[in-house]
Amino acid sequence: MKYVKLSQTDDLMPTLGLGTWQAPPDVIETTVYKALELGYRHIDTAFNYNNEEAIGSAIKKWINDGKGARRDLFITTKLPHVGNRASDVKTFLDLQLSRLQMDYVDLYLIHVPFGFHCDPETLTPRIKHNGDYDLDMETNHITTWKKMEECQKAGLIRNLGLSNFNEKQIEKIIKSATLKPQVLQVELHAYFQQLDLRKFCAENNIVVTAYAPLGSPGAKDHFVNKYNYSPDAFPDLLGHPDVKEIAEKHGKTTAQVLLHFLVNQKIVVIPKSTSENRLKENFQIYDFELSPPEVNRLKKLDKGENGRIFNFLFWKGVEKHPEYPFQLCAVDVTKA
Ligand SMILES: NC(=O)c1ccc[n+]([C@@H]2O[C@H](COP(=O)([O-])OP(=O)(O)OC[C@H]3O[C@@H](n4cnc5c(N)ncnc54)[C@H](OP(=O)(O)O)[C@@H]3O)[C@@H](O)[C@H]2O)c1
Repeated sequence: MKYVKLSQTDDLMPTLGLGTWQAPPDVIETTVYKALELGYRHIDTAFNYNNEEAIGSAIKKWINDGKGARRDLFITTKLPHVGNRASDVKTFLDLQLSRLQMDYVDLYLIHVPFGFHCDPETLTPRIKHNGDYDLDMETNHITTWKKMEECQKAGLIRNLGLSNFNEKQIEKIIKSATLKPQVLQVELHAYFQQLDLRKFCAENNIVVTAYAPLGSPGAKDHFVNKYNYSPDAFPDLLGHPDVKEIAEKHGKTTAQVLLHFLVNQKIVVIPKSTSENRLKENFQIYDFELSPPEVNRLKKLDKGENGRIFNFLFWKGVEKHPEYPFQLCAVDVTKA
């Protein structure tokens, strides 16, 4: 297991974590326990994944079984879009900590830069009569960040970070922050290598975490009946002939090659799997080296902005939010 050091707290963040999106509670509880047994020490979840309680139970059992201690683990969760305002930070964090059955999280991210009004019954976004999501146009990153800093000072969070923010939005927070963002979690894989954003993060001591590092093969099932869905938006990265050829040469799988390619560039990866074999497979990524020509071949798979899968347009009307983070190009409107 390898680590990166977070600049302001010196905390060590494992470069490999377990993603948990689309993993239902009954499945993720046994998966997390298995993953911890296999050596995973970093788990990524979010309020919106509806599985924090099951993850907390698995961790609690692992600790009670004498397998390890809370301090050995790095747990990330995220402030949801419906709680993206200063007055809601503590409320959601408290609820999440109680679901996770923990006193603190290692990393708390603002999940997305935009915000929705919250249905207090379901804690999901309110939807208007025309099907548009009810945007909270007053989203203010600075006041939200200040509240997160207070929670960090109170010991409820060890490190703060952002997810799905663009460079301009991050810069604004850096300028007014006491505790600067330590981690940025964004979509990042061989088709979408985010070179400019990575350079900016390196210059600002921000660790980059790659979500969808395998190209999120399960995303198309999730988005299939959603607004703006197009199957063409989900190309098969794991089946790409170049990746296959490189994998065969090393006696590794395409998933292992794609993950190694990223961690070797000091990017944290959080592949999701609920299969025991694939959990093992995704853990064996440090025991081989790619040659410079192979690395160059993988670098050439980058499609720039056209490689983006997660543009969030399935939340109908979200692009009208003043903090919607992405530049929309013509191709985007056909994507999920
Ligand atoms: N911040 C955000 O907005 C955001 C957005 C998306 C994701 N995330 C986080 O990032 C994590 C990873 O992203 P992701 O889940 O979208 O995509 P991913 O990790 O790229 O891909 C996961 C999918 O690949 C399959 N898979 C896993 N290992 C495999 C292997 N070795 N060979 C073949 N298939 C394999 C999984 O199926 P099985 O489970 O059946 O193995 C699952 O369907 C998420 O789980 C979540 O924690 C964050």
